[in-house]
Amino acid sequence: MSTTLRLEQITPANVDAALALRVHPHQEHNVAPVVRSLAEAYAFGETAWPRLIFDGDELVGFLMAFLDIQWNAEKDPTDRRSGLWRLNISADVQGKGYGRFAVEALREELRRRGEQRFYVTWEPGEDGPGAFYDKLGFRPTGEDSGGQVVGVLDI
Ligand SMILES: CC(C)(COP(=O)(O)OP(=O)(O)OC[C@H]1O[C@@H](n2cnc3c(N)ncnc32)[C@H](O)[C@@H]1OP(=O)(O)O)[C@@H](O)C(=O)NCCC(=O)NCCS
Repeated sequence: MSTTLRLEQITPANVDAALALRVHPHQEHNVAPVVRSLAEAYAFGETAWPRLIFDGDELVGFLMAFLDIQWNAEKDPTDRRSGLWRLNISADVQGKGYGRFAVEALREELRRRGEQRFYVTWEPGEDGPGAFYDKLGFRPTGEDSGGQVVGVLDI
């Protein structure tokens, strides 16, 4: 694993490369494209936290966190959560530990912000990322969020 891995903000200099990031075609139903995430980041303001994942000069992926959002206002207005909203590792560099790095980096960021739990939702199914999150220690909460599995990790 490289020691030059880092998260970077989206800037005028890197936005074109960010928009060109692609997962494998058979994975596209598991995650929104970066262009949609950046539009949502604009709309959601402070509650969205988009970052690019670099290995040295190479852009290898994108993540977006949600920060302190009201989860299900009707069920429990006090239930506020933070976690991983999107994770796109470039198709040609998957399987090299970049996804794990992204999750660990976000875990550190959430810890810094005083969070105790790290949430994520994912598409169920064979070619979904469930086995990846399982490996990283996330456990299903038993909830369903629009057909997606809800997972949680203690920080
Ligand atoms: C899921 C995804 C983020 C994983 O990123 P990655 O960089 O390929 O994963 P890593 O190399 O960091 O893998 C970490 C561990 O998870 C395992 N893993 C990764 N993907 C896996 C999969 N689909 N099934 C089983 N295990 C998997 C790896 O083998 C590795 O285990 P190890 O440490 O024992 O070797 C990436 O495949 C991706 O972008 N997929 C498409 C979009 C998507 O589904 N995003 C998630 C949206 S919620």
